[in-house]
Amino acid sequence: MAIDQRFLDELNARCDIVDLVSRYVSLKKSGSNYFGLCPFHNEKTASFSVAPDKQIFHCFGCGAGGGPIRFVMKIEGLEFPDAVRFLAKQYGMEVPEDTADRGQRQRRDRLLELMKEAARWFYAQLHAPRGKAPMEYFVRRSLSKRTMNNFGLGYAPDSFHALLDAMTAKGYTKEELFAAGLIVRSPKGTYYDKFRNRVMFPIIDIRGDVIAFGGRVMDDSKPKYLNSPETMIFNKSRNLFAMNIAKKTKSDYFLLAEGYMDVIALHQAGFDSAVASLGTSLTEEQARLLSRYTKNVIICYDADNAGQNAAQRAIDILGRAGLSVRVLRIPGAKDPDEFIKEHGAEAFRKLIERSENHIMYRLQNIQDKYDLTQDDQRVLFLKEAAREVASLENAVEREVYTARAAKTAGVTAQAFSIEVKNETEKRRRFEKKRYQREVRAAADAAQPKDRSLHYDNIRSARAEEGLLGLIFADSSLIPELRELITPAEFSSPLLGKLYASACRLFDEGHQVAATALEQELTSGEMDHLAMVLRKPVPGEKRSQAMRDYVNVIRSSTAEDDPDSLLRIAARKRKQTDK
Ligand code: GTP
Ligand code: MN
Repeated sequence: MAIDQRFLDELNARCDIVDLVSRYVSLKKSGSNYFGLCPFHNEKTASFSVAPDKQIFHCFGCGAGGGPIRFVMKIEGLEFPDAVRFLAKQYGMEVPEDTADRGQRQRRDRLLELMKEAARWFYAQLHAPRGKAPMEYFVRRSLSKRTMNNFGLGYAPDSFHALLDAMTAKGYTKEELFAAGLIVRSPKGTYYDKFRNRVMFPIIDIRGDVIAFGGRVMDDSKPKYLNSPETMIFNKSRNLFAMNIAKKTKSDYFLLAEGYMDVIALHQAGFDSAVASLGTSLTEEQARLLSRYTKNVIICYDADNAGQNAAQRAIDILGRAGLSVRVLRIPGAKDPDEFIKEHGAEAFRKLIERSENHIMYRLQNIQDKYDLTQDDQRVLFLKEAAREVASLENAVEREVYTARAAKTAGVTAQAFSIEVKNETEKRRRFEKKRYQREVRAAADAAQPKDRSLHYDNIRSARAEEGLLGLIFADSSLIPELRELITPAEFSSPLLGKLYASACRLFDEGHQVAATALEQELTSGEMDHLAMVLRKPVPGEKRSQAMRDYVNVIRSSTAEDDPDSLLRIAARKRKQTDK
């Protein structure tokens, strides 16, 4: 399973962590380090830092830390080998694979091949004589031939084994068809086609691979849509429908819709940046995927209550991914598909132009709740609006929307701004408390049940951290330090382990760096190492500093913890010295 360390060294050497992190987080330089808002927890003040000299990031709010690979693992939600592959691809390197990995890959490739074959087959069925009804269905829904081809639309015939037969004839096994989610198993153990008598929408990822299908009935029967289950090749929370097409758009915004048909209708009308989440509410991963391609998202969900509630949640998730969000209202229609069908593309473009930024959208929603001709309702409106305006980070924005809301309710901006200021203060106090709570929780979380992360002897542990800081800064100190202390003499097993690892890297001729340990350390251990390495290291007299640290370790174990392993080790040492 392990990836050759020499390859990882090379990858880490080619990667620039500031450049990598900057693709996700906006960083500001301060001294030799960079700071920004942590992408791994919600925060208002920058506690996330990147140290380019050490190739590490560390957040003192939530404790996350590590090198480039660890960063990719966390932010893209990938396992170690996939994160390495992801990073290697960006630097034009090929990951040497061992046999276990190769087996996995071959299986994936085979399933992807099968999905492509299935998509071709569904497409052929739509264009065969038995595809008459589904073809008419698409035409009734105003889709052109070109659109159908663009999206690779198809048809799954009314049969329990048509696909099964066709794919086994091509050499795929039932087991493979099952693993791809194309067939299901009855309680009796027989297999049959999952999609029957449905029009088919292939779901294609950004690499262009067919990873799943959505299938719709052509009448009012239930369930209306059937989607592929999650499989080895399909993770629905990480993909967006039509992202494979939308990623090539020249438009500076993306449209986020709810349904397959909305997206398809939007593309047909010339809006080539439309995507949809896959029958679930938008996830953080989908928001991050979007943020790799655009800065602006316009939500165009269904006009019904469910759609509007989903829009509220999507606003927050997209905002957290650093996207600027607008929300489009669809007057007198259920969804974008119906609106375009009725009023045309130009009318939809006008809706986009008139789409509201998320704060106007929310103020409008608040306004809709109250009758502003009634004094008591106006007061309630202003209270709620003040909370909304106070939630804005930017003071200029707060001023602009203070004036707007005041005007709406027919009061002076001055009077209303007092209310907004009160709310802003309240929020600030609340945020401060929440931040302190978070830091405390993060500190608690960093002291897990795992005893290896818990310091029994703080004084000694600080000195041990000091030693690690020194040898990671200058590995030529290692031979000298080894003469003074062994890993077993460290009071903290984790720090001792890190010391031993550093020595091993040194012996094997690798760079002694956090990045070289990304493969072997757990996430918690790596967070801890990054924290240790963020502390300043004495610039000179390092040899003396090392001796001082060792003395502290020796004396504090002897005093504080008579039964510690250290003391036993020290005793042994004395005996052998005799
Ligand atoms: P039509 O215009 O009626 O084809 O559908 P729509 O695209 O307007 O979809 P709708 O607003 O009904 O639903 C939005 C999305 O939710 C769909 O595209 C599907 O991804 C998903 N969805 C809808 N109905 C079902 C269902 O019965 N089961 C599942 N799993 N997903 C559904
Ligand atoms: Mn619809």
